[in-house]
Amino acid sequence: MSVTFDFKGKNFVVVGASSGIGRQAAIELSHSGANVLAIGRNLERLAELKKNSPLSLVKHPPRIFTEQLDVLTATPEDWAEVLDNFTSVVGRINGGVYTAGIWGLTPLNSFDEALAHKIFDTSFWGAVNFVQSATRKKFSDGGASFVLMSSIAGEFSGKSLFAYSAAKAAVQAAVKSFAAEIIRNKHRINSVAPALVKTEMMQNEMYAAAASEEIISRHLLGVGTARDVAGMILFLLSDRAAWITGQNFFVDGGYTVGSYT
Ligand SMILES: NC(=O)c1ccc[n+]([C@@H]2O[C@H](COP(=O)([O-])OP(=O)(O)OC[C@H]3O[C@@H](n4cnc5c(N)ncnc54)[C@H](OP(=O)(O)O)[C@@H]3O)[C@@H](O)[C@H]2O)c1
Repeated sequence: MSVTFDFKGKNFVVVGASSGIGRQAAIELSHSGANVLAIGRNLERLAELKKNSPLSLVKHPPRIFTEQLDVLTATPEDWAEVLDNFTSVVGRINGGVYTAGIWGLTPLNSFDEALAHKIFDTSFWGAVNFVQSATRKKFSDGGASFVLMSSIAGEFSGKSLFAYSAAKAAVQAAVKSFAAEIIRNKHRINSVAPALVKTEMMQNEMYAAAASEEIISRHLLGVGTARDVAGMILFLLSDRAAWITGQNFFVDGGYTVGSYT
């Protein structure tokens, strides 16, 4: 049995689309009929992503648009500009996904302050700035749906993970507050919290070292793929999730259960 989504004529923004989970969500959205604005820093990878636009079998095929933006330095004007460029071509957006994030260890007694801030700002403040700009009436159609990336680390932390864990916990907390605010335009917002997913993030040497055999074995269904997480993201963006807002969803291959059995 396979589930397909129909996003024909819809428009979505994916921040952190050049790699991993964001890339997969962008491709699946566009193959389900949506126009996608893919945002990231790496132009080469964004150009490669564009090649995944569906073939021109129909007169006006959905398209993947790309914009280069660093979420750590983007001003409200920068966000407005990239959203303007997209919406002036395709119309207002029906939602967005924020997956930009970096991983890193920051031990309490000797943490690198710049790295700790970068970790926190990429996952948290970048998401806040995106949601603030994207939910404006000028850019979002009423009833738009937004998904932010948390992590199981937002609830179950570990040694030297305070910056990453705090950022991911903050995402979950902010989603509850945002949900209550953006409902005035009938918008929804939720977060997704994966366990280990095979993406570029896992290539990070420290991440690979932390992903020990023991940690991997706690994943009852094995380590995940970007596709495993994109399914939940597309569901939350779709109208089948129309009665869901302000929630966090674990997509963890059974990790949280496997850790306690
Ligand atoms: N993989 C896992 O095991 C896992 C587990 C739990 C949660 N997560 C979360 O899921 C999200 C996606 O992770 P992933 O595994 O797909 O990682 P990934 O493959 O490393 O992708 C991260 C994305 O974030 C973008 N990004 C990073 N810093 C940015 C910046 N300053 N400005 C703009 N874009 C930036 C990167 O784009 P550029 O390099 O082009 O800028 C890239 O597209 C992250 O928030 C991560 O914390 C991942």
